[in-house]
Amino acid sequence: MTSIRISPWITLFVALGLASAAAYANQPTAGKPGASQSALPRGHVAIDPSQYVGSDTCKTCHEDMFKGFEATPHWKTTLSKKGPQFQGCESCHGPGKAHVEGGGDKSKIFTFQGATAAEVSDRCLGCHEYGEEHANFARSQHNVNDVSCLACHSPHHAKEPQGLLVQKQPELCYTCHTNVKQDFNRPFRHRVEQGLVQCTDCHNQHGGFLTRQLRATAAQDQVCFKCHTDKAGPFVFEHLPVKTEGCQSCHSPHGSTNPRLLKRAQTNLQCLECHTLTQDSGVPALPTFHNQSQKYQACTTCHVQIHGSNFDEFFFK
Ligand code: HEC
Ligand code: HEC
Ligand code: HEC
Ligand code: HEC
Ligand code: HEC
Ligand code: HEC
Ligand code: HEC
Ligand code: HEC
Ligand code: HEC
Ligand code: HEC
Repeated sequence: MTSIRISPWITLFVALGLASAAAYANQPTAGKPGASQSALPRGHVAIDPSQYVGSDTCKTCHEDMFKGFEATPHWKTTLSKKGPQFQGCESCHGPGKAHVEGGGDKSKIFTFQGATAAEVSDRCLGCHEYGEEHANFARSQHNVNDVSCLACHSPHHAKEPQGLLVQKQPELCYTCHTNVKQDFNRPFRHRVEQGLVQCTDCHNQHGGFLTRQLRATAAQDQVCFKCHTDKAGPFVFEHLPVKTEGCQSCHSPHGSTNPRLLKRAQTNLQCLECHTLTQDSGVPALPTFHNQSQKYQACTTCHVQIHGSNFDEFFFK
């Protein structure tokens, strides 16, 4: 059962992963200073090693930058055996010989200033696009809307050392997604503000295959199952919309004015969006279960296992 469900996904990931890698490899490099083909940290691109001077040379004039850099995870690039275009300062700024010989001529090195979002991300992805987390940046809404890596990360001036972030979550995300902040101010919400749940638990900020950049669990199920494992089933009696339309058909995932993050204030109205009950079809004097008098409105007082049951087709237990 599980393997049948996973394998098409894996095939898809591999296929699309290769396709996007190929797309990047074919992308023309931009006309910024230092952005010649040889500047890109790519194994398969021919570079001229004599144009690289090494980070120790940069250190002679940029000692502070070097010290800061040494404290970040990117120091590891100095150990790379793949060639000078993967090492230290020049792995991002490109070959530095002309810049050094010009006594620090800014126009002779890639500075990131004024670079387009695509140019920036392309540079970073030269090392980072591999792996499930980052392979799909090209298709992300962030990339499509010119939000580059540097909107969230800063190699030299990170405020949050963890992940080299310019700001920590959720404030980072709120700077642009102001409407989402309101969602998390509602009386019932996932406790994102308190750090109990993070935006990136549910979304892949770097892009993926699902709508709204939602993550999936390792088994490619809905992201919600990662934490709410009891809702995952499989159940002998599934409540169909849980599996077909997803949790969002009844819940507002960010936050809600209704308890249990429900979309509707009254449970019965939530249910009646899909169910038309044959009301009072019995003899008028006899009570039936589904007339909409007050006491039958709380559907889940009887249908308690609303997410699916192993014992009862009507979800009573
Ligand atoms: C991982 C990529 C990366 C590496 C490695 C890197 N830089 Fe940078 N550098 C950047 C980016 C991006 C900027 C633009 C500012 C920012 O976002 O932090 C920048 C900006 C700069 C600036 C402009 C001044 C400033 O404070 O922003 C200098 C100078 C500089 N880098 C020098 C260096 C030196 C020297 C090294 C090696 C010790 C180095 N960089 C390594 C990406 C990198
Ligand atoms: C001989 C000294 C010297 C060496 C060596 C040197 N630089 Fe510079 N660099 C400078 C000076 C001076 C400036 C400032 C130029 C300006 O402000 O006009 C500069 C500017 C820069 C900038 C642009 C800063 C900005 O404000 O936009 C970057 C990026 C940079 N250097 C990276 C490097 C890297 C990477 C190396 C090593 C490959 C390196 N430099 C080696 C002297 C040097
Ligand atoms: C919309 C904001 C945003 C954008 C755009 C973005 N990132 Fe991230 N990135 C994050 C956040 C948030 C984290 C999680 C950091 C943490 O808490 O550890 C992260 C984590 C990472 C990590 C480390 C963790 C991991 O899972 O690999 C790397 C590497 C990374 N990003 C690289 C990139 C690169 C390269 C780009 C551009 C192609 C990029 N990011 C674009 C927000 C962003
Ligand atoms: C030469 C290859 C290379 C390039 C180019 C590169 N990185 Fe990295 N990056 C690395 C390596 C190696 C690490 C350390 C990974 C580790 O610790 O396992 C790293 C780590 C990171 C992390 C994770 C930090 C953490 O706390 O875990 C972030 C975020 C990141 N890089 C962002 C960027 C951004 C943004 C750019 C473009 C400006 C960039 N990188 C360019 C190789 C590179
Ligand atoms: C620099 C601005 C900026 C930052 C910071 C930012 N985003 Fe975005 N994000 C955008 C833009 C622009 C879009 C595309 C337009 C839209 O849907 O709002 C987008 C789209 C998205 C989408 C897809 C929405 C959809 O309708 O498909 C998600 C999910 C998302 N961002 C999550 C995040 C998360 C999580 C963070 C924090 C880690 C974050 N964003 C940080 C600008 C930003
Ligand atoms: C519990 C999981 C979860 C968390 C945590 C979460 N989201 Fe979402 N988010 C979703 C789901 C599910 C949707 C899709 C809702 C739909 O399609 O009806 C969504 C939709 C979105 C959208 C697109 C629609 C809209 O409302 O604008 C954006 C943007 C977004 N989220 C950003 C964020 C940001 C920013 C954070 C953190 C502050 C965050 N999300 C935290 C699950 C989550
Ligand atoms: C990273 C873990 C995590 C993920 C992913 C997650 N949740 Fe939650 N959820 C929680 C936690 C923790 C609580 C308890 C909240 C509290 O006490 O503040 C919660 C509470 C809830 C509640 C309210 C429960 C109550 O008793 O009031 C609902 C409904 C809910 N989540 C639905 C969802 C949906 C739908 C998704 C997918 C879009 C989702 N969750 C994804 C961790 C998660
Ligand atoms: C058909 C509508 C519907 C769907 C779809 C649905 N839920 Fe619910 N959910 C409810 C109702 C109604 C309640 C309140 C139950 C009650 O009143 O006891 C609830 C309560 C919850 C609670 C809190 C109480 C508990 O049982 O733990 C969580 C957590 C939750 N749902 C998570 C999810 C997740 C995760 C999904 C997707 C897998 C999901 N729900 C899909 C209707 C739905
Ligand atoms: C998004 C649409 C949707 C919502 C909302 C919804 N349901 Fe359902 N429900 C379905 C579908 C579809 C079936 C499967 C019907 C079938 O198999 O004929 C189903 C089946 C059922 C069944 C099993 C009965 C049967 O005929 O198999 C019960 C009981 C039930 N729902 C109760 C509820 C209750 C109570 C609520 C509100 C908490 C609710 N539903 C909300 C779509 C929904
Ligand atoms: C007092 C308990 C009780 C309440 C409250 C209740 N139900 Fe039921 N429901 C039942 C029983 C008992 C059955 C099984 C009837 C049968 O055996 O045919 C049933 C069957 C159903 C069925 C499947 C048969 C059909 O008519 O399609 C659905 C759907 C359903 N209920 C939805 C709801 C909804 C929606 C609500 C809230 C508006 C609700 N129920 C409130 C007890 C209740």
